[in-house]
Amino acid sequence: MQQIAIFASGAGSNAARIIDHFRHHATIKVVLIVCNKSGAGVLDLAGREGIATLLIEKEAFFRGDAYVKELRGKQIDFIVLAGFLWKIPEALIRAYPGKIINIHPALLPKFGGKGMYGRFVHEAVIAAAEPETGITIHYVDEQYDHGQQIFQAKVIVEKEDTPDSLAKKVHLLEYEHFPRVIEEVVDLQNHR
Ligand code: GRF
Repeated sequence: MQQIAIFASGAGSNAARIIDHFRHHATIKVVLIVCNKSGAGVLDLAGREGIATLLIEKEAFFRGDAYVKELRGKQIDFIVLAGFLWKIPEALIRAYPGKIINIHPALLPKFGGKGMYGRFVHEAVIAAAEPETGITIHYVDEQYDHGQQIFQAKVIVEKEDTPDSLAKKVHLLEYEHFPRVIEEVVDLQNHR
């Protein structure tokens, strides 16, 4: 069984769809939600789904061993970032090479990097009068939104689009593609 930990800081709407996708999967299971914000919606989701949670502290995460011991202790094989706003420390990247993926709500390398999350991304896309936007799913390395790309999907930006309407369009792309891409990547890594 390939055990997945989802790292999330917010509402967890992506986490909800990922959990759904693997609910009856034969070899892949979401077994842990890791969160850096007490009170985040994703923690309520974990409670409803009966999935274990790990609330992480900034000091221990960045100046400690990034909870590698705890993750290994829970037999985590793969890490999925679904709206997790902290950078992933070296210690964790070294412990899970090629096994940490992230989804970003824009067509990287544009509109990525520190501070580019949520509505800030969609505001920047509109301000730049981009003809299209979308999602990028990528491996995580030491820099924000920088690792090798795995998948992108696009949607047209219409002139009447607002940051909110773009956010809705992009979320739909995330829900449509992220669970399947995770499954493909975990299967790929599992058969190396
Ligand atoms: C998503 O837009 C994702 O692309 C970004 O963070 C957001 C998470 O939203 N990385 P949710 O918590 O899954 O609703």
